[in-house]
Amino acid sequence: MTRIIAISNQKGGVGKTSTALNLGACLAEKGKKVLMLDLDPQAHLSIKEDIWLEGIDGLAFIKGEKELKSNGRDFNLIHSDLSLSSFESEFSNKLGRDQYLQRAIRKSEEEISKYDFVLIDTPPNLGVLTTNALTACNEVVIPVQTLEFAKQGLEIFLAMFKSVEEILNPNIKSWNVLCTMVDFRRKQDKEILEELKNEHKGHIFNTFIRTNSKVAESPRAQTDVLSYAKNRAEDYINLAEEVLKNDKN
Ligand SMILES: Nc1ncnc2c1ncn2[C@@H]1O[C@H](COP(=O)(O)OP(=O)(O)OP(=O)(O)O)[C@@H](O)[C@H]1O
Ligand SMILES: [Mg+2]
Repeated sequence: MTRIIAISNQKGGVGKTSTALNLGACLAEKGKKVLMLDLDPQAHLSIKEDIWLEGIDGLAFIKGEKELKSNGRDFNLIHSDLSLSSFESEFSNKLGRDQYLQRAIRKSEEEISKYDFVLIDTPPNLGVLTTNALTACNEVVIPVQTLEFAKQGLEIFLAMFKSVEEILNPNIKSWNVLCTMVDFRRKQDKEILEELKNEHKGHIFNTFIRTNSKVAESPRAQTDVLSYAKNRAEDYINLAEEVLKNDKN
């Protein structure tokens, strides 16, 4: 069964897109078939143009206007652009507004089932694109920085996520916090990491992503850290291994 993972947190700049991009690349490197979906109108994930699926974009896909078509490659991306923000304005008051992506995925079920993973990058808000991702997925990864405001923001996300799980998506098999941009030169990072591990036992990755200049630089080269600096991709390689080990199917 395809593992559909939403990468989500309403807090901005916590590493959602970097997680999608680099986890996707590491899973693909391990021979998995990976489809990424850019569900953020900022379209940062779409920077990796070399893996765009042709003839489709995020807005057309979520609206059910276009179905997936195979291109024979194993690592693909449904790209987006700013026009995806029109979904938020046009569909926010429509009946079934949270279930468009779920329906689109079902409509393309045959194509989707060829992938081992679908990774969905979401915007930094709790709007209708985020609720669509959380309704369509069966797993959630929640990137959180080891900073006090980020830790507080996580509680806001979890409260919303739990009501989506209860009302809209009983099929969620797992959710896990991922600590990102951890910097042990700051004393608080170790403390906050330990606090998060205690507070979310069973729902936090053992792997954490350290601050890494190559991760920050790779988007400028329109790629992921594995392609940009393989010897600095260790944390994401470990994350991919942990994700593979956590298979609940
Ligand atoms: N491990 C890391 N080390 C250093 N910089 C990082 C790391 N991870 C992400 N960054 C940088 O931090 C910034 C924010 O990361 P990213 O865009 O992935 O976050 P985001 O949660 O997707 O943001 P948004 O909420 O705006 O969508 C980017 O400039 C990114 O390159
Ligand atoms: Mg992002």
